[in-house]
Amino acid sequence: MFGEAKPFLKWAGGKSQLLPQISPHLPRQFNTYGEPFMGSAALYFHLCYRQKRGETDWPLSRLSDMNAELVNCYQVVRDRLQELVALLTLHRQHHSRDYYYSIRNWQPEELDPVERAARLIYLNKTCYNGLYRVNRAGKFNVPIGRYRNPRIFDAAQLQAVSLALQNVVLEVAEFSHVLGWAKAGDLIYLDPPYVPRSPTANFTGYTHQEFDMQAQVRLAKVYRQLDQRGCYVILSNSWSETVLDLYRGFRCLELKATRMINSKADQRGYVSEVLVLNY
Ligand SMILES: C[S@@+](CC[C@H](N)C(=O)[O-])C[C@H]1O[C@@H](n2cnc3c(N)ncnc32)[C@H](O)[C@@H]1O
Repeated sequence: MFGEAKPFLKWAGGKSQLLPQISPHLPRQFNTYGEPFMGSAALYFHLCYRQKRGETDWPLSRLSDMNAELVNCYQVVRDRLQELVALLTLHRQHHSRDYYYSIRNWQPEELDPVERAARLIYLNKTCYNGLYRVNRAGKFNVPIGRYRNPRIFDAAQLQAVSLALQNVVLEVAEFSHVLGWAKAGDLIYLDPPYVPRSPTANFTGYTHQEFDMQAQVRLAKVYRQLDQRGCYVILSNSWSETVLDLYRGFRCLELKATRMINSKADQRGYVSEVLVLNY
């Protein structure tokens, strides 16, 4: 039995809830699809869904991210699924508070790729808030979450994801790497860590390096270069003066996202995001 290929990790800034607002703006035909801030790759899996329905088609995808744990995890799902499911099954059987902290203490760089991938999925599904976050030393430091019976993984879904990744190029790379291959007619989706709406609202824990204002300015230059090459370029970011200034001259659409705007989980509200399109 096959599940649906969709994000299997909970990732800060994951785009699943915005897909209905982004989807109508996607071109039907393009050459290579590139996502240099892949995270949970929500837009890639959405494109796969549209491809299955005959709504779009493209020959090659290149997905990358600076987070090496994340990229390793996708490579293992693509290439070593059976071994991964065997390890995840063990994690599920042994799950407890003590077990969580013993797995958290494992050093990823000392592990085999399959062990690293299983560790990431297990921690992502059992940690507090389900968010992968590292401290400045690059260590995953999130405490255990309060889940009664965490599902941890769905084998049918991982199987579908594995199939959807079969011919995909997966790389650990800084975003400007996209300039090394992008050509006219390619579709590039840029979804960086956002410019903070307020000084305290900044989530920067994806990697041990911060995505600061200089990085936002470099990214806006990359956007313009891709535009000049004739790529279709889409970018997400917060709806803010800074971002609107950086992308002046391009089409800036306002999207509404539901976000926790308060530390209390039951107080949610809408925040505006921008979708910058060059076509
Ligand atoms: C907003 S998230 C992307 C979310 C993704 N679109 C999704 O649907 O889950 C931003 C991603 O950028 C990655 N990242 C941070 N700095 C980067 C850099 N300089 N180059 C490439 N990737 C980076 C982070 O590891 C994180 O996965």
